[in-house]
Amino acid sequence: MKFTKSGSGLRGEITVPGDKSISHRSVMFGSIAKGITEIRNYLQGADCLSTISCFRAMGIDIENKGDVVLVHGKGLHGLIRPEQVLDCGNSGTTTRLISGILAGQNFDVTLTGDASIQKRPMKRIIEPLSLMGADITSVKDNGCAPLRISGRPLHGISYTSKVASAQVKSAILLAGLYADGETRVTEPYLSRNHSEIMLNYFGADVRTELPAGAPDSPRSGSRESAPASASPVSGVTAVIQPADELHGGLVEVPGDISSAAFFLCAGLMVPGSEILIKHVGINPTRAGILEVVRNMGADITLMNEKKGSGEPTADILVRHSCLHGTVIEGAVIPTLIDELPMIAAMACLAEGNTIIRDAAELKVKESNRIAVMAENLTAMGADVTETEDGMIIRGGKPLHGAVIDSHLDHRIAMTFAVLSLCADGETEISGAECVNISYPNFYEDLQELTKR
Ligand code: S3P
Repeated sequence: MKFTKSGSGLRGEITVPGDKSISHRSVMFGSIAKGITEIRNYLQGADCLSTISCFRAMGIDIENKGDVVLVHGKGLHGLIRPEQVLDCGNSGTTTRLISGILAGQNFDVTLTGDASIQKRPMKRIIEPLSLMGADITSVKDNGCAPLRISGRPLHGISYTSKVASAQVKSAILLAGLYADGETRVTEPYLSRNHSEIMLNYFGADVRTELPAGAPDSPRSGSRESAPASASPVSGVTAVIQPADELHGGLVEVPGDISSAAFFLCAGLMVPGSEILIKHVGINPTRAGILEVVRNMGADITLMNEKKGSGEPTADILVRHSCLHGTVIEGAVIPTLIDELPMIAAMACLAEGNTIIRDAAELKVKESNRIAVMAENLTAMGADVTETEDGMIIRGGKPLHGAVIDSHLDHRIAMTFAVLSLCADGETEISGAECVNISYPNFYEDLQELTKR
């Protein structure tokens, strides 16, 4: 697919599709809850459709009517053994979270996914789930999918994860629902807490413990209280009690801040832009990009702040801004991990240097996002040095079009479609259709804003 420089600013209003993380969880948790879960604004991207098909294969009736999805949950012990291998497609969230649920069932199952999923690290869930008593093996003995899981009686553990990963934390918490005692997961920094919020909303007992000296955290996401911690802190523990049953309910999925990030950055980068991005999820464990772009000098305003199903939302007004470099490191990293490719590309247009550190997790996403970003940004004329755990970007070099290899990574394709708006000449992106993983109408929506 080919792209050219934008002749004028991006202007208008946009509503981005539903949050991918919250969509996955609503179908998973709805399936193992009693009663009907009504999900509004479910993301119809390929990843979330993989989650629906996995639970259908385990006997759950899921009506997908487009914007509304109805899950007829069968309770914690209502899943049945699938007749075939479960196909998680390109979705790490499906693979890892489902493993936590499958660990506690009374049947065995094999799950796998596409070529990218079969290269992504699964030891990070195999180890803690095995400690809980699960029988889970990597079929090729390489620490990756396909995974063979035989459900077993589980016991609670106290586990310290080396990485701040919501997928690891959530897999352990889900297995903890089936355990014979309390389960604790400590991570170096607070990762996205959508599982804690939604599990509490469905009646589980999950709480977040902050290290001594940190401000008090409410029971995350209980029907009455606000989500945990306004800013990420070191050494955070999620604690779950075994559950008798969960109870489904109404889930209103906010717009995905990871999708909004492309328009947020496009608006900041392209001169003459003014965009209103409506109804975006701004859970503090996801909203690090807002802090970082403000540090870079961005003109953004949050309006119409609300809270639905325990998740805060806002409209974001963004105007073209003159940006300067910044340092992105430490506790903020898990709160913007999926936005780093777009932020790195935007930093090429900023004045001065941007340094990204502590982001080695980028290497084990849908592609090695450090290597792929460095390679593609360099092809467009940017001055970028790849490091062990991030990148150094020396901003302000003139950019030109190039042939970009997306490596079939949706966020890489979208990042370069946006960056091409600021580059002289033509940019050609290979595998551009992979955006259907998280944002099927991305190119149409981007074009709509450039027409006004
Ligand atoms: C996700 C967690 C993050 C993120 C991914 C979605 C989730 O992954 O990158 O896109 O829904 O829990 P990690 O848990 O591997 O950091």
